[in-house]
Amino acid sequence: MSIKSGLINGVATIEIARPEKKNALTVAMYEDMTTALKAAVDNPAARAALITGQPGIFTSGNDLQDFMQRPPQGPDSPVFLFMQAMLAFDKPLVAAVTGPAIGIGTTMLLHCDLVYVADDARLAMPFASLGLVPEFAASLVVPALMGQRRAAEKLMLGDPFTGQEAVDCGIANAVLPAGEVLPHARRIAERFNALPPSAVRQTKRLMKRWSSDAVLQAVAVEGERFGTALRSPEAREAFQAFFEKRKPDFSRF
Ligand code: COA
Repeated sequence: MSIKSGLINGVATIEIARPEKKNALTVAMYEDMTTALKAAVDNPAARAALITGQPGIFTSGNDLQDFMQRPPQGPDSPVFLFMQAMLAFDKPLVAAVTGPAIGIGTTMLLHCDLVYVADDARLAMPFASLGLVPEFAASLVVPALMGQRRAAEKLMLGDPFTGQEAVDCGIANAVLPAGEVLPHARRIAERFNALPPSAVRQTKRLMKRWSSDAVLQAVAVEGERFGTALRSPEAREAFQAFFEKRKPDFSRF
């Protein structure tokens, strides 16, 4: 099982567990995460959810083999259904991040409520570097969070950034030593056990309400362009280069 999920102390815990592939996310893993999120919505005993990876790796993003072999086909594809489930999730969503959080590994954090990162965390949104375009409303949310200039570094140049920078630009709440991130995030998530659940959910809904139409629209527009980009020669060259463990050559485009 590459996604482990279960209710621990009132916290629906989703653990990405595919360390041999750096927690790269496959279609089946998106499906399992969607199921886990929906189960947490339906379970009154789940007062919050926590998403985490393995020590030293949150996720290397979408599985690039999957992208080549089974590219997402429209809004009913597992990755889009996962995004919808995350956007619709109205209970507190906490993330604990150690090591790399790449692509959707970073963009999913934009939609969590509380994010704790390790001092070894390495976030990156190298969509353009891969011949792709931003997803999960990153083209909307990232410039809004950090301004156009810093967003250009992250989204156009694909520059990676540290946990501290994630805090500085509003993506994360706090940086902790790697071994303390998960217990800290869990303690924070468990605090919701002592809070009135309906008021918490309504507060989250209100906080999201004023931007949710724009976010959904961004997800849809990006999704269309992403689908086209995935089939482009630029993306093919980037993916092949990754698996051939060489630098991509975009000089002919
Ligand atoms: N999709 C598919 N396989 C992946 C993967 C991904 N996103 N990320 C890592 N892997 C695989 C590697 O191909 C390798 O497989 P192998 O052992 O069969 O050769 C294995 O996982 C280990 O990865 P490796 O690159 O050797 O580990 P590393 O510690 O040197 O680097 C990362 C870790 C995460 C920095 C690096 O794997 C990486 O950059 N991954 C791709 C990130 C990416 O571009 N994601 C897509 C965003 S849209």
